[in-house]
Amino acid sequence: MRAMKGIILAGGLGTRLYPSTKAVSKQLLPIYDKPLIYYPLSVLMLAGIREILIISTPEDLPSYNKLLGDGGGIGISIRYEAQLRPGGLAQAFTIGEDFIDGSTVALCLGDNLFHGQSLTNMLENAKLSIEQEGGAAIFGYPVADPKPFGVVEFDDDDSVLSIEEKPQVPKSNYAITGLYFYDSEVCSIAKSIAPSERGELEITSVNQVYLDKGRLKLYRFGRGTAWLDTGTPEGMLKAAEYVEAIQSRQGYYIACIEEVAYRRGFISRKDLISISQKLEGTNYGKYLLSIAKEA
Ligand code: DAU
Repeated sequence: MRAMKGIILAGGLGTRLYPSTKAVSKQLLPIYDKPLIYYPLSVLMLAGIREILIISTPEDLPSYNKLLGDGGGIGISIRYEAQLRPGGLAQAFTIGEDFIDGSTVALCLGDNLFHGQSLTNMLENAKLSIEQEGGAAIFGYPVADPKPFGVVEFDDDDSVLSIEEKPQVPKSNYAITGLYFYDSEVCSIAKSIAPSERGELEITSVNQVYLDKGRLKLYRFGRGTAWLDTGTPEGMLKAAEYVEAIQSRQGYYIACIEEVAYRRGFISRKDLISISQKLEGTNYGKYLLSIAKEA
């Protein structure tokens, strides 16, 4: 069985966050104490994915490279590809076709933040199911107002009945989060879909093809998981407040990629200590050292 690969889509114009995004890519802006992209990156790593492609604008890619390099320092491999203009989420699979190279693949949107106790379990289950049986997996999350999102309707057995992109009259209160797992068919499906009315290759159109084939599986996040939106200044502030509240109360960091790499066995205790020594004098370095010294 070939290992699942992961893609983070970190492009877009960031117009809702202007002028903060005038000189800096949205997914490089901080959520409390670390860049936004650390959050989706840690989600893919928690799922056990070690080969990752970051897609962003040609102007912003060098900054991502400066931040994360080739990933070797945290036991993963990171590649970079440019999206020349934001033509829709499904472009991840045309731009990423060579990288995917016939494997299964997870897509995480660069501005999505997930956190919670059952998260790792659910990610591992979904990944295993796609690796063994194929098809596609989406993750639903209950929200007070589902209208700005993709929305999934499902029956008592959680079988998907319909999916709609930003419906005026949502058929459920479950938003489809920005995390998707696919079999290797996704590249040819992404090439076959037509642009939507707003001129984008929609991820919902890709998912509709899997639904039509009876191959779209829904995983539902419960109350114990947080899924936060960072698309607006208010969303970013609320996400930062959430991260600060959990971290200062528990003493554990959210989306600390070096810690995730260590706990998943991608790097050794010695590696973690040496990373922390390079960051000496910073709170982040002190935190990594405390994790390395845990019994
Ligand atoms: O966040 C979950 C939602 O994400 C889903 O519920 C929707 O079904 C899905 O279509 C998507 O909706 P959004 O309207 O939030 O997507 P948005 O256009 O804001 O893009 C999400 C991120 O992906 C954003 O950080 C920018 C980046 N992006 C977007 C596009 C269209 C790219 O990097 N390239 C693109 O071409």
